[in-house]
Amino acid sequence: VRNHWSFAGGDVGPWRVVSLDAVSGAVLPPVARLAVLEGGAAPAGAAWVLRGFTSNVRYASGAELAALAARQAAPGRAEARCAALIPIRKSAAWWALGQDARRAIFEETSHHTAIGLEYLPPVARRLHHSRDLGEPFDFLTWFDYAPAHAAAFEELVRRLRASAEWAYVEREVDIRLERDG
Ligand code: HEM
Repeated sequence: VRNHWSFAGGDVGPWRVVSLDAVSGAVLPPVARLAVLEGGAAPAGAAWVLRGFTSNVRYASGAELAALAARQAAPGRAEARCAALIPIRKSAAWWALGQDARRAIFEETSHHTAIGLEYLPPVARRLHHSRDLGEPFDFLTWFDYAPAHAAAFEELVRRLRASAEWAYVEREVDIRLERDG
């Protein structure tokens, strides 16, 4: 299905797993390599497969969408030999909130988009939704960047994890990847 993506951890795939750590909650089984597949296919023999789909925005305003469009790059640039797959599940308390309250925490309080915009275009991103598939995570967040921007990416995740939004994150696994070519 178009817009559906699979992230398969195992022995195959262009991405070498540099680290795989739990930030909150249970970790995933360790793997050597990751394959990212568009269309929902998954290779046989994977140790685990996480699935998600891209979708319309939930929270971004028109002005934020314009700011993002003016700066963002698509993942997959030749120089982007570093990547991060960060699967995230939010708490029941988050999902019990109204859309307006979630938006207020996400942006007016936590400044997620405003902070993120500071790191564009060196960091490219793609957000996948998983919650409605009955997956173990609500979101599969994917980023890639050139090695020269690795320190900036660390700063970005540190700032977001210190925000009020992250009080609602109950499971987060941080998978860092590199590829040769
Ligand atoms: C690279 C800079 C970043 C930018 C510009 C950015 C921007 C955004 C935007 C605009 C949305 C909302 C989409 C919507 O309206 O539905 C979003 C959602 C999200 N982002 Fe980021 N982000 C960045 C980095 C990150 C990082 C590093 C993480 C994880 C550590 C992250 C995790 C998430 C999650 C989990 C969501 C979904 C939140 C929800 O719907 O409850 N983002 N991001």
